[in-house]
Amino acid sequence: MVWQRQHVLGLADFTPEEYQIVLQTAASFREVLTRPLPKVPTLQGKVVATLFFEASTRTRNSFELAAKRLSADVLNFAPGISSLSKGETILDTARTFLAMGSDLLIIRHAQAGVPQQLAAEISRRGSPTGVLNAGDGLHEHPTQGLLDLFTLCAHLDPERPRLENLQGVKIAIVGDILHSRVARSDIYALLAAGADVHLAGPPTLLPKDFAQLIPGYTLPIHWQLQPALEGSRFVITLRLQQERMGEYLLPSLREYHHLFGITHQRLQLCHPQVKLLHPGPVNRGVELSSDVMEDPGLNLIEQQVTHGVAVRMALLYLMGGGRIPT
Ligand code: NCD
Repeated sequence: MVWQRQHVLGLADFTPEEYQIVLQTAASFREVLTRPLPKVPTLQGKVVATLFFEASTRTRNSFELAAKRLSADVLNFAPGISSLSKGETILDTARTFLAMGSDLLIIRHAQAGVPQQLAAEISRRGSPTGVLNAGDGLHEHPTQGLLDLFTLCAHLDPERPRLENLQGVKIAIVGDILHSRVARSDIYALLAAGADVHLAGPPTLLPKDFAQLIPGYTLPIHWQLQPALEGSRFVITLRLQQERMGEYLLPSLREYHHLFGITHQRLQLCHPQVKLLHPGPVNRGVELSSDVMEDPGLNLIEQQVTHGVAVRMALLYLMGGGRIPT
């Protein structure tokens, strides 16, 4: 198996082999992270720049920690205190980081397509720098999709997380699917693993076109929670992205919780060993009731965060030219 991707912009065209490589490499970094000195010299001398043009807590810090655990030098770009406020364009900002010798650029932007434009410009120049999409508008959030995939596979087989672990496993994705780049990346990853993915949300946040997201495959979509939850082994809940919503998509947060909020009682419908995921940040009492969030036996939310570092280390390592562990 060989890693050939210079840029990771989305999961829509990821191959099963690429998913397996990421799972396998992330598993070996998960082990590194449990050592007394959780650091390896693999990216020593390399420069990793995080360019976050949109707010982030988990993703930015997770990438920064992943790069530092690999011994890279990390440059952090914060738009509020940068030359963007003096009128500089995104591409010129990126050029500055390239001129400083950045080997990897990690970019988040509120507009879909910005990481793709940057990658196209880099390829046009024949530069070997890799671009990693850390979330672009409503389009994709590939590292979240990969860390969710890793968390699910590792839950079912902690020793050897593999794509096959999810074959035929029912997984419900619930909430604001329309505005969620996480939902799109999760759907690509989970369907590649052969999971039985069901989508649920109010019709305003789950348009029926979603059923046709994958050419040649009809995704089951539900405008009620019950059929999605019935027998589900995992439930992935998504934040209501109020910052991306127009005014009239939701009657109220209370109404949403009443119809789609995950509570202990509703989880009775699921598989007896059901586990919950959420990419964070959570609107407590809206997507999940507070007691569900506090129930460590039920949710894998903190594991998602922990695994996020290992998965991002895996990608930075692979994109930085590292060899695939056996
Ligand atoms: C997600 C994002 O930014 O798309 N969060 C994250 O990366 N952890 C989901 C969200 O903001 O709801």
